[in-house]
Amino acid sequence: MPVITNIDDLKRIYERRVPRMFYDYAESGSWTEQTFRDNSSDFADIRLRQRVAIDMTGRSTASRMIGQDVTMPVALAPVGLTGMQCADGEIKAARAAEKFGVPYTLSTMSICSIEDVAEHTSKPFWLQVYTLKDDDFMQRLFDRAKAAKCSAAVITVDLQLLGQRHKDLKNGLSAPPKLTVKSVANMMTKVQWGLGMLGTKRRFFGNIVGHAKGVKDPSSLGNWTNESFDQALDWDRIREFRKMWEGPLIIKGILDVRDAREALNVGADAIIVSNHGGRQLDGALSSIRVLEEIVEAVGDKIEVHLDSGIRSGQDVLKALAMGARGTYIGRAYIYGLGAMGEDGVTRALEVIHKELDLSMGLCGVTDVKKLTRDHLLIPEDFAGRWA
Ligand SMILES: Cc1cc2nc3c(=O)[nH]c(=O)nc-3n(C[C@H](O)[C@H](O)[C@H](O)COP(=O)(O)O)c2cc1C
Repeated sequence: MPVITNIDDLKRIYERRVPRMFYDYAESGSWTEQTFRDNSSDFADIRLRQRVAIDMTGRSTASRMIGQDVTMPVALAPVGLTGMQCADGEIKAARAAEKFGVPYTLSTMSICSIEDVAEHTSKPFWLQVYTLKDDDFMQRLFDRAKAAKCSAAVITVDLQLLGQRHKDLKNGLSAPPKLTVKSVANMMTKVQWGLGMLGTKRRFFGNIVGHAKGVKDPSSLGNWTNESFDQALDWDRIREFRKMWEGPLIIKGILDVRDAREALNVGADAIIVSNHGGRQLDGALSSIRVLEEIVEAVGDKIEVHLDSGIRSGQDVLKALAMGARGTYIGRAYIYGLGAMGEDGVTRALEVIHKELDLSMGLCGVTDVKKLTRDHLLIPEDFAGRWA
């Protein structure tokens, strides 16, 4: 068994074990990948203030996100095609999250369906919803989430149009993967992955095939996807979704104070400051840079969460100290899943938890809920003077 001490260890194993097409799918940002890179490097620019001779015993990372108890305020972000990174990937990730005591968010574009994940887990998970034109499909998606006892809906608002990732086009990314000479040659070197895929029936978009009008099989999915994403989305349309779903609602993909206020006005319970992990608008600022401004504007009225760029417990600490009430990891757990299945997701969570706990202690903080900006050293003008 390899010794895993950080998220990068998992990423190295992940790269070896998963077909290139799916590694590239996760490990890319849009266009030049500037925002994708900034997400991590901006976290690295923030330093921690060491304190000593403060009683550090009895530390706790326990907190709440939208009123739900969490072992640490780190949820698993929705990641499409998770079940292509590892057979039955969504079920494995959801189970690891459940055992660890953190929320799991299932993507609309998942391989395992809502019902399938519900059947194989015992605690409620959250469902991420894309904003599609098809009212029937949307209402049914919310109804299915309710029937599966999902405890929150996460509406992603930053994907009216799909950002371009060069590698996905060049690799011909699809689920199940297209069989070309190059992709087959590569997949043949990924024995464990291949055996897993042969052993499962879950290889298509489980929430869509058989549920969306006219999508009876994977071949009709492409057309449906192109036609379904709603470029005309506006806040009135989001208000209609609010009516379709009465439970806790989180709006994901906010980077601007004006949009944060709109999300507050439609009655969301939380927003996620997110640039989709650098996969949508290349050139947008990193989430951590815009966090403080958004917290200042709406943080006393709505829970502000953050994702994009978190690779360690120290990143989590920084986001919380800057005012986020919760955080999400995307790639950090996907590396674990592709490397070692459910155990790998657990490892990723353990690594992040340990880093968070140790760093809190060394900063002289015993309760994660008491982290503040005073525990950080932030470069002057970190938020920047962008005109
Ligand atoms: C491979 C991949 C697929 C994703 N699919 C979705 C998705 O289906 N729905 C969604 O709202 N966000 C999706 N995201 C964005 C994540 O939810 C999250 O915002 C992002 O991964 C956070 O950045 P990080 O990976 O640096 O932690 C995806 C991200 C990745 C890496």
